[in-house]
Amino acid sequence: MFITKLVEIFNEYKGEKGAVIPILQKVQDKLGYLSQEVISEIAKFSRMSETEVFGVASFYAQFRFTRCGDHVIRVCLGTACHVSGGERILDEVTRELGVSPGETTEDYKFSLERVACLGCCALAPVMVVDKTVYTKMKLPKVRGVLQTYGENK
Ligand code: FES
Repeated sequence: MFITKLVEIFNEYKGEKGAVIPILQKVQDKLGYLSQEVISEIAKFSRMSETEVFGVASFYAQFRFTRCGDHVIRVCLGTACHVSGGERILDEVTRELGVSPGETTEDYKFSLERVACLGCCALAPVMVVDKTVYTKMKLPKVRGVLQTYGENK
């Protein structure tokens, strides 16, 4: 139950002022995203309005307001990856999963994102699934990588 997890997090920050950002981070880590209900509870705890909490959270790109997939796939389209075929890798992932960047599969198994640079340009093109980095990606490798995470088309 999400309330139990929220209470645990709130207990860590009892009496602390200005802790709304670390609270938002911890809550997202635990629950995956910030629902309207969660924003409302954080607002009550922080003695802020829901609009203020949402305003803080929406300022930062790291926060999500909709449920994302069990696995988050990030395909790099920074310069090095772009010239090494990153766009084709992204197209292949899009085709395999049937979702566009920014979307989540209907079964909530995968979310797909495009990113600007993952910091390992020498190993382009690069994609990351959760925390695992796949380097020098080639089109035929895409399906195998997805199958590792349960994609079974
Ligand atoms: S451009 Fe893709 S890792 Fe840097």
